[in-house]
Amino acid sequence: MDSKLVIVLVGLPARGKSTMARKIARTLERDELKVRVFNNGELRRKLAQGNSSAPEFFSPQNPEGVAFREKCARINLDLAQSFLQEEGDIAIIDASNVSRQRREMIEETMAGRPILFLECRNADEEALEANLVRKSSLREFAHLSPQKAIDSFAKRISFYETMYEPLHSERNCIVVDSFTGSILQEKLADVVPYYDRIRDLITTRIVKNLFLVRHGETYFNLEDRIGGDSVLTAKGLAQARALAEHFSTIPIPIIFTSNYLRTLQTAAPIAEKQEHSSIIALPEFNEIHAGICDGMTYQEILARMPEVADARKQDKYGYTYPEGEGYATMEQRIHRGLQKVFYLNNYDDNIMIVGHRAVNRMILSDFLFRQKEEVPYVYMPQNRYYHLQIDPHKKNFELQPYASGQSKKR
Ligand code: F6P
Repeated sequence: MDSKLVIVLVGLPARGKSTMARKIARTLERDELKVRVFNNGELRRKLAQGNSSAPEFFSPQNPEGVAFREKCARINLDLAQSFLQEEGDIAIIDASNVSRQRREMIEETMAGRPILFLECRNADEEALEANLVRKSSLREFAHLSPQKAIDSFAKRISFYETMYEPLHSERNCIVVDSFTGSILQEKLADVVPYYDRIRDLITTRIVKNLFLVRHGETYFNLEDRIGGDSVLTAKGLAQARALAEHFSTIPIPIIFTSNYLRTLQTAAPIAEKQEHSSIIALPEFNEIHAGICDGMTYQEILARMPEVADARKQDKYGYTYPEGEGYATMEQRIHRGLQKVFYLNNYDDNIMIVGHRAVNRMILSDFLFRQKEEVPYVYMPQNRYYHLQIDPHKKNFELQPYASGQSKKR
C-alpha cells in the first residue's frame, strides 16, 4: 500500500481541529516529512465575495451555501491530491467533514490511498463556551457586537449539529477528546503509515513557547502578607511596563491570568503593547487560598497559630490551610487550567500565563518539573520569568530576566 497518507479531521466547529492539524503537521515536519494542511474555512474566506460568516450560510437548507462549501472542499481535495502525487507525504484535510456524504466524497477522490479519520470531540461545556467567546473575537466577526458574534457562531454550530453523523463505516479512525488529550476510540482496518507516531503525539503535550510570569510587586508583598487581592505598588506597575516592553516584539495573542487584580494589572500593559492580544482570566489560576490565614503575615501565623506554621514546615506540599487549600489540593484545578490554556490557544502561538507564586510553582510541577516535595520551594521571583519549551525531544525550563523592574523616571 501507498506510504503516503491522508488525514481527515472530523468534528463540530470549535472542537480543536485546527490546533490538532497544526500540531501533527509541525511535529512531523521536524521529522523531515512533507506535511501540508488544507483548511476549508480559510479557503472559503479567501474565495467568498463579501462576508461568509452569517449563520444562514451554513444551513443545509441554503443551496448556495452548500454548493459554495462543497466547491471549497473539492478544490482543497484536488490540491491535496496534487501535493501527494508530487513531493508530499501527508495531507491533512482540516474541515468539519461531519456528514457521511462529505466523507464518502473524500474517500472516492482519494481512492487507493490510506485515509485516517481523526475526530475531535469536547464534552467540557465551560471550555467550549470559552472557545466560543474567543472565536467570536476573530476578524470574520469584527462587524458584529461581541454578543451578536457569539450568537452567530453558536447558530453556525447548531447547523453543523443537524448534519453531524458519527464515524461508522470509515476504515481507520481515531476519536480524541481534544480538551483532555485522551483517545476515546480507535479502529484500524488498513496499514496506516506513521500511525504510531501520530497516535503518540495526539496524547503528548507539546509546548512551543510558554512564558510563565509572576505578577509584579504588590502592597501585600511589601509586608510579606499572604492571599488577599492587593493591587500593584509603583514598583510593581513599573515591572509590568518593563515586561510589556520586553515582550513587545514577541507576539502573544492570548495572555492568561487569574481573577486577581495583581495578575490583571500586570497583564494589561503587556496586552496593550501587543498588536493583537486579549486577556483571559481563569479562576483555576487564582493563588492558593490560605483559609483562616488569608491576609496574615508569616510572622503573624507563627505567633498566633504556631501549629499551622509547624505542620506546614513538616510537609509543605501535603499541608492544607484550615478552611483553605494546599499545594496538593491545587493539583487538579491547575491541571484543568492548563487544559483550558492548550484548548484555547492556537497550536502555533506563544502562550503567556501571568500567575502567582504557588500557582506558578504548580504549573511548573504539572510539566513534571522537580520532585513534589521540592515544588513549594521553587524560586519564583518577580523580576524574572520562566520560559518553557517542551516536546518529545526536549524539556527546557529557563529562568529569564527582563529589563529593569524600576520605573524609568527614577
Ligand atoms: O506571598 C505571596 C503569595 O503568593 C501568597 O499569596 C501565597 O500564600 C504564597 O505566596 C505562596 O507561597 P508559599 O507557599 O511559599 O507560602
